[in-house]
Amino acid sequence: MKITITAPSGLEGVVKRELLSLTRIDAPSYNGKITFEGELETVALLNLKMRTASRVYILIGEFKATDFNELFSGVEDLDFENYIANNAKIQVNVSSFESKLSSIQAIKSVAKKAIFERLENFYKQKQTENGFEHKIEISLRHDYVTVYLNTSGEPLHKRGYRTLNGEAPIKETVASSMLLLSVWNPNKPLIDPFCGSGTIVIEAGMILKNIAPGLYRDFDFLHFNKFDTSFYCKMKQDALSEIKSPEKVTIFGSDIEESQIKLAKYHAKNAGVLDAVSFSVKNACEISSSESYGVIVTNPPYGERLMERQGIVSLYKNFSKAYKSLNEWSLYLITPVSDCERLLGVKATKKRKIYNGKLECTFYSIMGKKPEKTYKKL
Ligand SMILES: C[S@@+](CC[C@H](N)C(=O)[O-])C[C@H]1O[C@@H](n2cnc3c(N)ncnc32)[C@H](O)[C@@H]1O
Repeated sequence: MKITITAPSGLEGVVKRELLSLTRIDAPSYNGKITFEGELETVALLNLKMRTASRVYILIGEFKATDFNELFSGVEDLDFENYIANNAKIQVNVSSFESKLSSIQAIKSVAKKAIFERLENFYKQKQTENGFEHKIEISLRHDYVTVYLNTSGEPLHKRGYRTLNGEAPIKETVASSMLLLSVWNPNKPLIDPFCGSGTIVIEAGMILKNIAPGLYRDFDFLHFNKFDTSFYCKMKQDALSEIKSPEKVTIFGSDIEESQIKLAKYHAKNAGVLDAVSFSVKNACEISSSESYGVIVTNPPYGERLMERQGIVSLYKNFSKAYKSLNEWSLYLITPVSDCERLLGVKATKKRKIYNGKLECTFYSIMGKKPEKTYKKL
């Protein structure tokens, strides 16, 4: 079958790399989507283990349609019965970009009619729609129609550990991507000095402990009664047995608000990483560490939702002083504040455009020096 995974905007590269490391599949990305051949086991594995992708789909078919007749017959030609059982419910979601067919409501209703016609002909009965609700996504781009079956259900950033809302939380998939784009690895100390409800710290704890991000949540593909998913139990058991215990705590989160730290601890407990991370109430302008060559990955306030401009100017300047007092630490920071480099007084090694929800941000990489290699005398 053809599988498509979607990436948060600006993060296609890191999603592609994660796919390669999990499956050895090297597929190109196009418009935020990566499509490749795989089995149902691949669908299960990606839902369970991908930290950076937004959703996993089965691509049911593609065709061109410039009017509703073409849309109806194109949809009716697709083999929905291979995926959808008798009497299932069907939800159709539509997006249309620069296509002759642009009315979302009309496309939805024609496509739904065509799907039911196909299923009624195949099952030889009127569909009662009392089974599991399948989510079909139909995308039109330049009159080209692509039909997907959503196998994840809720987007993959919903890991299940965040049950309470912080002030301006970052998506778990974006937090994980920031970590994977940084030089951090589980052997280096990590600090998020503006940790809020703890997302970056918790995602790092899950990477360090090798906890599969989807371990404690449900997925739509598990309810497709057309598929035998009995293998998934063993896949989950294997993932559980691969969880590591940390030797010591090397991941630290702090925030000036005590209420945020309480939330962060609560979420870290839900995620099973309390033994790998530590949280404290602290002003980011006072961070310090006796360690060298550590990594800061953070999502500071922007001024839009949390603080006004004047406050941001002095916060970024004072935080930078504290950062510069650390010995050769690298700093990775996501913010929409356009003069961030000027305020911090540092030049980024690399900048990437990334969306945090609907907000366009820049992800700044500021590299500290690499540790010098020491060679043992023979
Ligand atoms: C954009 S939010 C971080 C959200 C976080 N990434 C999450 O997923 O929940 C910024 C955080 O910075 C905190 N903050 C503001 N000023 C601070 C300061 N001087 N020192 C430490 N934290 C501060 C706020 O309390 C807020 O939780």
